[in-house]
Amino acid sequence: MGRPLTDALDRPLGTLRVSVTDRCNLRCSYCMPEEHYNWLPRGELLTFEELGRLARLFTDLGVSRLRLTGGEPLLRRNLAELIARLRTVAPSADLALTTNGVMLSEQCAALRDAGLQRVTISLDTLRPDRFLELTRRPDLPAVLDSIAAARRAGFSLKLNTVVMRGFNDDELIDLVDFAAAVPAELRFIEYMDVGGATRWSADRVVSRSEILARLAARFGPIEPLPARGAAPAERFRLTDGTVIGIIASTTTPFCRDCDRARLTADGTLFTCLYAGSGVDLRGPLRGGASDAELIDRISAVWRNRSDRGAELRSTARDRGVFIPVEALRRDPRLEMHTRGG
Ligand code: GTP
Ligand code: 5AD
Ligand code: SF4
Repeated sequence: MGRPLTDALDRPLGTLRVSVTDRCNLRCSYCMPEEHYNWLPRGELLTFEELGRLARLFTDLGVSRLRLTGGEPLLRRNLAELIARLRTVAPSADLALTTNGVMLSEQCAALRDAGLQRVTISLDTLRPDRFLELTRRPDLPAVLDSIAAARRAGFSLKLNTVVMRGFNDDELIDLVDFAAAVPAELRFIEYMDVGGATRWSADRVVSRSEILARLAARFGPIEPLPARGAAPAERFRLTDGTVIGIIASTTTPFCRDCDRARLTADGTLFTCLYAGSGVDLRGPLRGGASDAELIDRISAVWRNRSDRGAELRSTARDRGVFIPVEALRRDPRLEMHTRGG
């Protein structure tokens, strides 16, 4: 590879987040609170062969981290087969999966054997009644089983907690203790006004500084750990050595360091979680484009990239729901669960 590909703000392309399906088996209120969704037509989903080809080209362009997301990625049949293919086309890439954990325990061994290295599981509450209220499904026991299974399978393991005032902000200490016992690295995520979060309001956001203050009140002084590079999480160490992360995209955006490209399951390339539109790669892929033509297309998109979505949102006056539900119905690619959380 020659000179690293950088965007208009001099940010390199380093991470590709691939949403392998827009479907999900939960209905988290911060992501999919509606009764009905318009799904991407199944025939339009990229095949594993197409995904493997794109992953190879993105790797050629500088991507060193691949993360599979959804929706819920484990709903995509034979996901382990895709992992094995990605392992082959990008042997040295960091390969990770973000999942809600409901279906992970039964697939752990196959995913590990296929070459998956890291897993991040959502865990917003430790209380079954709250889990049901949040997700509309009674699946907390399955998630807890999966956390234990992922640990046993030897994955590097993280847990994600979206903190919502009045819902789970009284569980911060319990969650830290739970994660330390697994052990897994827990990250608290500020509630974000991404597309799909149609119940978002500023007063439900618990900020990074408030989270830190609450942890300090219980655990004592908190030590910030050195710079995170392009990762969304800032890391901190508690006095007993436990490391936690905070993803403060709402109050302290990190767009300036963002190296992430996102691919929807139907092959639309997005360069920001908040971007209004993306660029179709499926058309050229299926229309017989050569590797060089695809590389040209992707490079041109990245070179032109100037997105700072979360940063711009943070300057909005009277910040409320970002994308109205009618717009989401017209264009499901605006949804967080379609472009990969
Ligand atoms: P590693 O750092 O590789 O462990 O993974 P990650 O933290 O990037 O992955 P994960 O899927 O766990 O993402 C955690 C959360 O960070 C997501 O749920 C989003 O809320 C947030 N996030 C991820 N990517 C972006 C992004 O490009 N922009 C913003 N604003 N938030 C993001
Ligand atoms: N705010 C913050 N995080 C969110 N996620 C989904 N919707 C939101 C939101 N509105 C997170 C999930 C999961 C990841 C895939 O995206 O909790 O950790
Ligand atoms: Fe919840 Fe993730 Fe499914 Fe959204 S995609 S409803 S955050 S599990």
